[in-house]
Amino acid sequence: MYSLNTSSSNELLTIEWKNNYLLLIDQTKLPTKLSYVKCRDYVDVADAIRSLVVRGAPAIGVTAAFGLALAAINSKTSNLKIFLRELSIAYSLIRSTRPTAVNLQWALDRIMQKITNLGDISQIKKVILDEALLMAKEDIATNKSMGLNGVKLFSDGDTIMTHCNAGSLATVAYGTALGVIRAVKESGKKISVIATETRPVMQGSRLTAFELQHEKIDVSLIPDTAVGYIMAKGLVKHVVVGADRILRTGHVFNKIGTYQLAVLAKTHSIPFYVVAPSSTFDLKNMPKDIVIEERSKDEVIKIGKQIIAPPNIGVINPAFDITPPKLITKIITEKGIISPPYTKSIKKLME
Ligand code: MRU
Repeated sequence: MYSLNTSSSNELLTIEWKNNYLLLIDQTKLPTKLSYVKCRDYVDVADAIRSLVVRGAPAIGVTAAFGLALAAINSKTSNLKIFLRELSIAYSLIRSTRPTAVNLQWALDRIMQKITNLGDISQIKKVILDEALLMAKEDIATNKSMGLNGVKLFSDGDTIMTHCNAGSLATVAYGTALGVIRAVKESGKKISVIATETRPVMQGSRLTAFELQHEKIDVSLIPDTAVGYIMAKGLVKHVVVGADRILRTGHVFNKIGTYQLAVLAKTHSIPFYVVAPSSTFDLKNMPKDIVIEERSKDEVIKIGKQIIAPPNIGVINPAFDITPPKLITKIITEKGIISPPYTKSIKKLME
């Protein structure tokens, strides 16, 4: 098991810009190995997002922004029309990697918006890179604000259940749901965490358990199938999760299994909190418009290289589910905490 030993900071830096390439922690190798993937062009970036080297809504948004920066910087043309066409090809490839987390689209659109009406290629290259760097910086600040906003909801001695990984590794640093957990700990309150393993990709056991242990936050790992029993035993005070997309109706798209946690939390009168930055809100679409990513059957029929089901079995493997607003107690954002009715509070928040 790799353990980080940095003197200045205890945080994992998921995404780092290194002047002419992007350095990503290879999350497919954690927790047994801390290794990095170098992305030297936008195709590398698209591959890294698609293969889950980098994952988590805010992290893929910022990575996508650097992908466009690489496409711009690497372009050799001095013809504006050709340059913009190259950028548009890079945009489409990166956009096609994962459909559900809105941060990906949000980040690409924010960059494209920034360069509308610019006519000088070297200026455009600089503007794109500056914007990507700004987004990376903003992400950390946003996560810290969400953390501070969330602290008041928790008390000394609380046990918090979380699902998937909404930590440092799902963002540039600090995390969304785990950012709140970090902030609660930093405020001096003693808390413990129950992390679900999050089949089939195991973001809970591979990433969340790793991150929290590294932060010296008390964490116990449970099988996904134990959620109801653990709640019924009274072992959970709050549930805190991240989000990949939140609609204006308050529907939350997040890692598969989130909906089950929310239903069970409601049954056991446990508050269910979602932590997400405003970049995760999608005010345009309705639930039926959103594509839920369907991933490879290999994720289900294998654990590592070991086959655990008949190889020719039919498999349904959605990566995300939808939690309806009636199951969500509060949504914690960098702009404040909102409560139901979400159609009203989201509108007000985003104005
Ligand atoms: O498939 P993943 O690992 O990208 O899914 C990640 C999640 O569902 C997270 O909970 C979500 O992105 C919020 S992360 C801050």
